[in-house]
Order: sequence, then C-alpha cells, then structure tokens
Amino acid sequence: MAILEVQNLRKSFGSTLVLDDISFTMEKGAVLSLIGSSGSGKTTLLRCLNFLEQPDSGIIRVNGETLLDAAAATASDFHRNLRLKRLHFGLVFQSFNLFPQYTALENVMLAEKLLAREQPDWKERKAARLQEIQAHAESLLADMGLKDRMNNYPHQLSGGQCQRVAIARALALNPDILCFDEPTSALDPELTGEVLRVIRSLASLHTTMIIVTHEMSFARDVADHIIFLDSGKICEEGTPEEVFGNPQQERTRQFLSNYAQQ
Ligand SMILES: Nc1ncnc2c1ncn2[C@@H]1O[C@H](COP(=O)(O)OP(=O)(O)O)[C@@H](O)[C@H]1O
Ligand SMILES: [Mg+2]
Repeated sequence: MAILEVQNLRKSFGSTLVLDDISFTMEKGAVLSLIGSSGSGKTTLLRCLNFLEQPDSGIIRVNGETLLDAAAATASDFHRNLRLKRLHFGLVFQSFNLFPQYTALENVMLAEKLLAREQPDWKERKAARLQEIQAHAESLLADMGLKDRMNNYPHQLSGGQCQRVAIARALALNPDILCFDEPTSALDPELTGEVLRVIRSLASLHTTMIIVTHEMSFARDVADHIIFLDSGKICEEGTPEEVFGNPQQERTRQFLSNYAQQ
C-alpha cells in the first residue's frame, strides 16, 4: 500500500491557480524529489501536504487514511484534528525556523513535550516522561553529529548545524513522511555538503522523504522518483535516469539545460 496518495490537488491564491490537478503516490521508504523553477508551486505543494495551506480540492491519504477530501470538506473539516493530521508529516524549511530563545536540545524536545503535556497521566509521569523525551532528543541530535552542540543556542551554531537541528526536530515526532523545502539554499556551499550527507544517511535508513531542491546532482543521486513541476502542473515524472537522462518534454529539457550551464 502506498504511504502517500495525492489525488487531483488544486490550490489557487485569489485568481492565480498555483497547483493544478496534482496527483502522485509514494511508497514507504521512497525518496521523491520535487524540482521546478521558482514560482512553480513546490512550496505550496509541501505546505498543502503539511496542512499549512487548505487546498481547494483534492484528496490526501496517508497509509490508506483519508486526511483530506477537499471536495467534501468544509473549512471546519479541514481544521478538525489539524494537529493530528500534521503529525504525519515533518517539514524542514529553507530558513531553519528554530526558536532562537531555546537551545538545540530544547528546540528538538519542544513538540514532544507539548504533546506529552496533553496526556491525562502527565502529572504523575512528568519526571519520567521528560527524561525519556530528553534522551530521545539527545539521540536524534547525536545522529545528526551534534552531540557536542546540544546546549548551544541557534546563534551559536553555523547554518549547517542549525539545519541539522531542524532535521532532528522534524524527526522527533516520528513523522510518516519527512519533507524538505530547499534545505540547503540558505547555506554557503561548504555547509551544504554536511546537510546533504545527513539527508543521504536518512535515505539509506529508508526514511520516506519529499525533497524540494535545486541541487540537481543530489536529487539524481538520492531520489527514487523525480517530479518536475511547471506552472503548478506535473510536467514530467519518472526515475532520475528517465527525467535527467532522457527527458520527454521540451520544457524539462529547457529547465535542466539551465542547470547544466551553471
Ligand atoms: N500566500 C500566498 N498568497 C498569494 N500567492 C502566493 C502565496 N504563496 C505562494 N503564492 C504564489 O504561488 C506561486 C507558487 O509559489 P511557491 O509555491 O512558493 O513556488 P516555489 O516554491 O516553486 O517557488 C507563486 O506565483 C507565488 O507568488
Ligand atoms: Mg519555494
């Protein structure tokens, strides 16, 4: 069974159609890379999947559970259990979005702590739960190579380190699908490598991921499937070999040749 099914997703902002009938599926453990020019709708698609944006129509299903059926849904359907629906997805932003007033460790612990606090047995189990949550956050940060940086604040960390904290934070609630929105485009080239290495290692652990990126050689290397978005439509999709090696659409060839010239 597919871990993610997206059917006929549409989204407009005012009179601008930004996502035009997007459909695709993903298998568990797969890595999908979304490529396309600026303004083609990549961020909007990730935001719709993460329930940060309400689509106008379409279906989003995770593990067979329909989270959104926008044709049938009202705004209140969309907002019902919003936090539960969002738990299926983790999102790593281009600009990290860490809380500056919290340490790396606190940033990673925060979501799990907020969730634990809502449990009926929180009061009795508080000390033990906090210990568990801290141990989990420490182990995620250690996996990101940040064992020695846990008590640093974001301003004491490099961009690459901040992004690795953000990845640990996105993993903290064990999302089904981890989404990245241009995770390295705010980084200097020498810091890009350390973040790409972490994403590559997540791929080798079969973490299901959707990665929006302008790093074409990385996408080719890490992804099982490529979707090329153009003006809100899927213009072309296939394996990296198909899309990069033998693109069928003139628009895809044009887009890729701009990268080849850089
Ligand atoms: N909140 C918004 N309000 C109005 N227009 C938006 C909004 N967000 C995105 N857009 C428009 O939607 C289009 C797609 O944007 P986006 O999804 O950010 O593309 P990409 O991530 O591929 O660069 C652009 O034309 C952008 O201006
Ligand atoms: Mg974007």
